[in-house]
Amino acid sequence: MKKVTTLGQFIIERQAEFPFAKGELSRLLRDIGIAAKIVNREVNKAGLVDILGDEGNVNVQGEEVKKLDVFANEQFISALSSGGECCAIASEENENIVHVSNDVSQNAKYVIAMDPLDGSSNIDVNVSIGTIFSIYRRISTSGHATLEDFLQKGTEQVAAGYIIYGSSTMLVYTTGCGVNGFTLDPSIGEFCLSHPNLKSPTTGKIYSINEGNALHFPEGIKEYIKYCQAEDKATSRPYTSRYIGSLVADFHRNLIKGGIYMYPSTSKAPNGKLRLLYECNPLAFIIEQAGGAATDGFERIMSKQISSIHERTPIIIGSSEMVEQAHAFMRIHTEVKA
Ligand code: AHG
Ligand code: MN
Ligand code: MN
Repeated sequence: MKKVTTLGQFIIERQAEFPFAKGELSRLLRDIGIAAKIVNREVNKAGLVDILGDEGNVNVQGEEVKKLDVFANEQFISALSSGGECCAIASEENENIVHVSNDVSQNAKYVIAMDPLDGSSNIDVNVSIGTIFSIYRRISTSGHATLEDFLQKGTEQVAAGYIIYGSSTMLVYTTGCGVNGFTLDPSIGEFCLSHPNLKSPTTGKIYSINEGNALHFPEGIKEYIKYCQAEDKATSRPYTSRYIGSLVADFHRNLIKGGIYMYPSTSKAPNGKLRLLYECNPLAFIIEQAGGAATDGFERIMSKQISSIHERTPIIIGSSEMVEQAHAFMRIHTEVKA
């Protein structure tokens, strides 16, 4: 009988490695895991609500029907607020920082940035969606957290992870000691270790980008896409194009199989679409810990200075050799700025 290691057991067994003392990480991840299970339950019955023909905002069970983004946001904020380890949260769904006001959390040491529901456009069509989170140690010493606590470079993250609500529900995270993946076993309601010490293949045959924006891609990206599409048996080209439209799902596939995901600057999004704080930095931390790379086309994502919590950035992320290849095209085709 294969040994089952739950998320909680894993953290305790590995406690010595974590830059957390006295079980803070286990409580933080426990809180995230609880919210993830509640969101997972809601994700699995979202379609049902439509079948049950809820009227307005209240369904037949008398439950208020919320947009899943709002529901997920409320669940994660509530779980993190009651856990006592987090003093403030920056969320894609909230313009400003959410301060955890109960006195237990007031002086907690950590702040969390999150995208509570990633892939919103896919919620109503049964395509995988996710949650992304990033954990920093606060810089401010007491009282309300400050903006400065959140505007730390990605290299300052103490932990980062995501949940993918897909054919199975997985929680994948790193604390800087490698990447580990846990699959939710609904029969026991536990995340169980299923992908220990995840390493991403150094190269791959999948490229992922919304080619609908191709007209306005930077020249280097256009040339790299042509490289991906060229015939060359020796380098397994043409590659396969896969674009799910949920960053977490495209990222997770590339992490496991090898591949590259790009969201460059476009005409509609001159600084890229994805947010540096709670989408790009956490996934960059994970991919680097798994042996891959993440840049904005010129510099390492995790080294970027951040000036606002919803700041966007172009991103190229995935297998190290593929990111390097795309980078080479960006270098060649970027006019030397006068
Ligand atoms: P979110 O749902 O949190 O706003 O994120 C959506 C993001 C990302 O998940 C996805 O890869 C990308 O937006 C898709 O953007 P396009 O529809 O512009 O391709
Ligand atoms: Mn998102
Ligand atoms: Mn989102």
